[in-house]
Amino acid sequence: MTGRARIAAVLLLLSTRAAPASPLPLDVCGGDKLDALGNACRALFRSETHGSSVNDRARITAAAARRWHRADAAATARGADCTSATNAIAPAVTDLSLLVARFDQSTGGTRACRSRRLRAAGAACRALLRNAGDRLPSQHGVPSPPDPEAAQLRAGFQARWQKIRCPTSFTPDSATAALDGIVERGIGDATTLTLRELATNAGVLVGAAVEPEHIANDPQFGPTLAQEFSSLTPENKMKWDTTEPVRGQFDFTPGDALVDFAEQHGMRVRGTALFWGRLQLPDYVKAAASADDARAMLTIHISTVVQHWAGRVAEWDVVNEPLTLLGDPGTTDGLDDHVMLQKLGPGYIAEALAIAHAADPAAKLYLNDFFVEIPGQKQDRFVRLASDLLAAGAPLHGIGIESHMGFVGFPSGDVLEAAIRRFTDLGLEVELTEVDVPALTRGLSAQADSYRSIFAACLAVPGCRAVTTWGVSDRYSWLRNFGAPGEIPLLFDDDWRRKPAYFGARAGLLAR
Ligand code: G3I
Repeated sequence: MTGRARIAAVLLLLSTRAAPASPLPLDVCGGDKLDALGNACRALFRSETHGSSVNDRARITAAAARRWHRADAAATARGADCTSATNAIAPAVTDLSLLVARFDQSTGGTRACRSRRLRAAGAACRALLRNAGDRLPSQHGVPSPPDPEAAQLRAGFQARWQKIRCPTSFTPDSATAALDGIVERGIGDATTLTLRELATNAGVLVGAAVEPEHIANDPQFGPTLAQEFSSLTPENKMKWDTTEPVRGQFDFTPGDALVDFAEQHGMRVRGTALFWGRLQLPDYVKAAASADDARAMLTIHISTVVQHWAGRVAEWDVVNEPLTLLGDPGTTDGLDDHVMLQKLGPGYIAEALAIAHAADPAAKLYLNDFFVEIPGQKQDRFVRLASDLLAAGAPLHGIGIESHMGFVGFPSGDVLEAAIRRFTDLGLEVELTEVDVPALTRGLSAQADSYRSIFAACLAVPGCRAVTTWGVSDRYSWLRNFGAPGEIPLLFDDDWRRKPAYFGARAGLLAR
């Protein structure tokens, strides 16, 4: 344990004899962990100088993890509540490995010279992390005082870097910035929590849309999903074309796989969608012969699906996207024109809610739509639809605001918060159900800022219950198949690295 961390631990020990544990005293929880991370950083750089093997890296990682968890346990034993931060060592070490690889790949010259560069970076990484660990503020939101030692460490590193002659694409400034990034993320990992833990602490859920084949085929998908998210939405596998592709023939297999996964990892399941007129609706439904035929199909479909997952799917989008594209009144008073509207009239929505409620009275029932996060005629129409249903006594519990950003701009936190409040003011819950933020044109920093605002907006309104991102890794984003190839709208990149967006979401979840 470093000097300051030891003093802080002793002070905490004395203070906790008389008083109950204070939550997350960052200096006690984080100091030793950053020290462990610093050791790992230096060791990874050193091992790279002689061609690091998988075994080397595993040994270094395991040592860091052991020390990380020991630090948590020791602080907990002294009465500090640090347990919540125990999960973050794995991504922290991944960040380090990526950093080491970047330095290695961008350095040429003789082996001896390359070694000098890598050792210089490793020593600076260790020193900066250790220094940061010694100077952690006692709690979140307390600004760190200016740090002359860090400034000296950086200057020393830059001078050393300049003297080493072999070629590298890292300038002294960019090399220092890369190390600073690691320190900043390391502080976050040592002192804050996974998104899931942060969301739990804030009283909300953080969810992701998922396809079961991605969990089955990509070994990184499941662990990241379970660690970072507390809610799961099947991206496609509970829609009508999957659950009842042929009239009267139900297939719950792919949906069951997702529900099983969620239960194994203590995640809530949000089902979407019992009825969606726009897409993924089989032709036989669209060809309903009469009102009775349409009503029979709606009743059997919704009651069979909801009963199958009763008690396991906590919440349903009963009608997905009930409104026209832009909420324009047209000839249907702003309601999307499809078979159920044509055969049953606007009352089909209340009917669908009643059928779902009868099938599982405990399930929360939602309507979900897009472009309603910004003020205008569509949002107005959605508010009117919700209040009319409530006035008629329909079992409507919540509103899903999809929040696919970029189609109608990138609304600020204030705009989102105002949208959420319009529905919570009616006594309804709200969730942001399908969040993604394109970044190809605006860049990763703007994307991170949007994610921060989105999570902060939900936290700002008591009736906002969850934020779900429409996917986990950019690699599987729906946008890449829908006119935006190469788009990068999510929190994790193609190779599962946490993006600035992840840290934006983290900052939003810490905002209060
Ligand atoms: O299942 C077939 C597969 O058998 C076939 O090999 C493959 C070939 O392209 O297509 C597969 O179906 C695709 C399905 O996703 C599963 O991957 C469909 O073509 C494709 O159209 C479908 O797209 C989904 C889209 O809804 C359909 O409307 C997206 O994945 C899904 O992200 C998207 O989700 C919607 C929300 O439910 C509602 N809000 C908007 C959101 C984005 O459009």
